Formats: sequence, C-alpha cells, structure tokens
Amino acid sequence: MDKLVISGGQPLRGEITISGSKNAALPIMAASLLTDEPLRLRNVPDLADIGSMKSLLRQHGVMIEPAASNGTEDPGSFDFTAEQIASTTAPYEIVRKMRASVLVLGPLLAREGRASVSLPGGCAIGTRPIDLHLMGLERMGAEIALRDGYVYASCPGGLKGAEVVLPTISVGATENLLMAASLAAGETRLINAAREPEIVDLAHCLQAMGAEIEGAGSDTIRIRGKVRLHGAEHRIIPDRIEAGTYAMAAAITNGELELLDARASDLLFVIETLENCGVSVTPTNRGLHVKRANGRLSATDMATGEFPGFPTDLQAQFMALMTTAEGVSSIEERIFENRFMHVPELARMGAQINTEGACAAVTGCEKLKGAPVMATDLRASVSLVLAGLVAEGQTELNRVYHLDRGYERLEEKLGACGAQIERVPA
Ligand code: UD1
Repeated sequence: MDKLVISGGQPLRGEITISGSKNAALPIMAASLLTDEPLRLRNVPDLADIGSMKSLLRQHGVMIEPAASNGTEDPGSFDFTAEQIASTTAPYEIVRKMRASVLVLGPLLAREGRASVSLPGGCAIGTRPIDLHLMGLERMGAEIALRDGYVYASCPGGLKGAEVVLPTISVGATENLLMAASLAAGETRLINAAREPEIVDLAHCLQAMGAEIEGAGSDTIRIRGKVRLHGAEHRIIPDRIEAGTYAMAAAITNGELELLDARASDLLFVIETLENCGVSVTPTNRGLHVKRANGRLSATDMATGEFPGFPTDLQAQFMALMTTAEGVSSIEERIFENRFMHVPELARMGAQINTEGACAAVTGCEKLKGAPVMATDLRASVSLVLAGLVAEGQTELNRVYHLDRGYERLEEKLGACGAQIERVPA
C-alpha cells in the first residue's frame, strides 16, 4: 500500500485548478440510468469513487465511452448510454466499497419497476442509515423488503408522485428521490430537502434531460414526472470541498494560492469563517485568491451544518488549521456521529485537542511536529496532509487509498505549488 511522505515548512505559492465535484458527479452518473439515450458528462474527476460508480453502472448495462471535445481528447468527458438495463441488482462487492452506490436505487426502480441494492452497512464515520431513501420511495408507491443484506424494491404499476416530508435533511435521500420522481407519474413535492450545490447540479442535469423541476436549492422541490427522459450534455460543477481544502492549505502554510474555477457562492460560510480566522479570500476573474490577511491565524469557533452551513466534509481540515491558530477554538460536528478520527492522529503531531461528545476544543500551538500517521477516512486523511505541510520534519501518511477516493492528483497539485510531498510504495 502506498504512503505519502511530506516534509513540512514550505509555504504554498501558485495556482491550483479545482477538479469536477465528486459528490455532484456520482448522482449525475447514476442519472444516466433514467434514459436509453446517451448522457454526455464533462469535467468528471478521475477518482477511485468515480471508478467504482463506473463499474457499478457497467454491470447495470451502461456503456461508458470517452467523449472528444472539438475533435480532441477531453479526459474528463464521457458518454454514458443505458440503452438497456442488463441487471437491476447493485451487488455487495461494489456497494461495500462506496456508499454512494445506493444512488442507483431510485433511477433503477423508476425505469425498470424493480431494483435490489446491497445495504451499505456501517462505515467509519457513523452508522449512516438509508431509512429516509426507503421511506420516500415507499411514499411514492414502492414496496420495500429487507432480506439477506439487500434492499428489494418493486413497483409493478410504476412510481407515483407524492408529498414526501423528510424528517432529517439528507443529501443522498434528496438525490435518490429527485431522480425517481423525474420518471414517476404525477407531481412529487420534497419537503425539507437538502439544498447543497450538488443537488442543484443534479437538478440542472435532469432538466437538460427533459425533467420538470422547480425549487432545487431551496427546502421544497417540486417535480412533475415525465414518461421518458432523453439524452443531454452536462458539465459537472467544481468541487467545493477540494477548493475549501486547498484554501486551508494556503492558510496553514502561510502561502498564497489562486484556486482556479473555485466558486465563492458555494463556499460563502466557509469564506466567512476563514476571514474570521485572519485569512483573506477574494474572488478573481478565474476563481478565488487566498492568503493570510496578516500574521498568525486566530482561533475561531465553528459548527458544521447542512448547506449553506459549514460542510462536515471540511471539518477535519478546519481542525488541522485551528491546531496552529492563536487561542482556543471550539469545533462542533452536527451531521455525523464519530467524525473525529483525525483527532488522535493530529495529537501525534503535537496538536492539543480535547473532545467531549460532538465537540472538540482545539488549543493552537506554535509548531506541529512530523510523525507517522494513519488515515481512517477521506477527509481525515487530507487533514493530516494539511498538518504535514506545516509540521517541522517529516510526516508519513499511511493508507493513502482514502485520499485517492476524493482528491485528484493531490501530490501533483500541491507539489507544483512548492510542497515537498512524495508518494512511495510501502
Ligand atoms: C453526502 C456526501 C458526504 C457528506 C454528506 C453530508 C455524497 C456522495 N456524499 O453523504 O460527502 O458528508 O452528504 O453533507 O454526496 N441519514 C439518516 N437516514 C438516511 C440518510 C441519512 O438518518 O436515510 C442521516 C445520516 O446518518 C447523517 C445525516 O442524515 O447523520 C446526513 O446524511 P446525508 O446528507 O444523507 O449524507 P450522504 O448523502 O450519505
């Protein structure tokens, strides 16, 4: 298994192009199951999770081919064509690698009248059930049975539009229901829907495929179902989590980065929080420019929340940032239980963090020290990279495969801005 070796202390300087959003691309790829015509997607990032979704879709019968742009090869562009559905089962071997596999449930059920998906089970950041996805589909007329670790869903007469009130805001459930409702008979209203930019991007793609959707980006989405959807072309939005991560990398190393394609509108609360810490984030005509406003960072409190709140997927990175700030900051995780696995690893590098339940008190220190550390999930891993970039001496990060799930060419992008970071086979 590969590891990353980082020699800390270099301020990052230069520009980094932000890749297409992983969390927008995954549901949008699943949306290709809703039509027998080609769906051309651009700006698809090259990541392990995207590879898992491609394998899953292929075994459902989707043909995936690279698409050219003006006659030249365009590495992030693909045509997804689900002319016929070869299988309505999402097997355990793929679902266990990636929870987002559950996003094929809504589209398969809507198009074929049945689907079986292996239950994603627990994962490193909490139990993460899918009860809301199932409840919503049941409201739309699906019959659901749980057997042998699988969800069996069927709706012989087709799905019917319904009013679905989500008791908790869920990104995945909103996406699954949005896709299913696009091919259901009649009108669906999703109430207390997630408002993340990835939901809006999915809605834009579905609209390009002929769906009638209003209100995506607000807490009530209205969908008028269609008998069929057609092919379309769609460009995936830039990854706001990758952009936020590199913004924090610039801040923690006291460097200066321009993040090309990053969109301020997706990061308003993150930008506000960073500005409170003494980081200046300024929109440019190419993206965002980030550097410290002056001197040391100051401690700032933060609680995660659903969009437009502070994303849970940036909590670990923000905590790494606060380990070097002046003062004590309180960080509260409100979305997932058990999402502090980076804490003991950051502590190995000299960070002072006390946790109590979902709250962490971080006391900033003058210097972190390099150490061998172990990643437990995607965002935890990258927080250790950030800490390694500023730590004195060498940091060895093991289990790099977590990073490969969500950060495209991480060491290349950081290395081009002056970071000393190397991938070595273990
Ligand atoms: C998505 C993102 C993930 C991000 C998360 C929250 C993708 C592929 N993943 O995950 O990176 O961290 O949003 O922004 O886009 N819940 C239930 N029942 C359900 C569904 C969810 O209780 O049926 C709970 C979860 O346990 C969690 C909360 O709702 O506490 C939010 O989860 P959700 O928004 O569904 O996250 P995902 O869609 O899995």
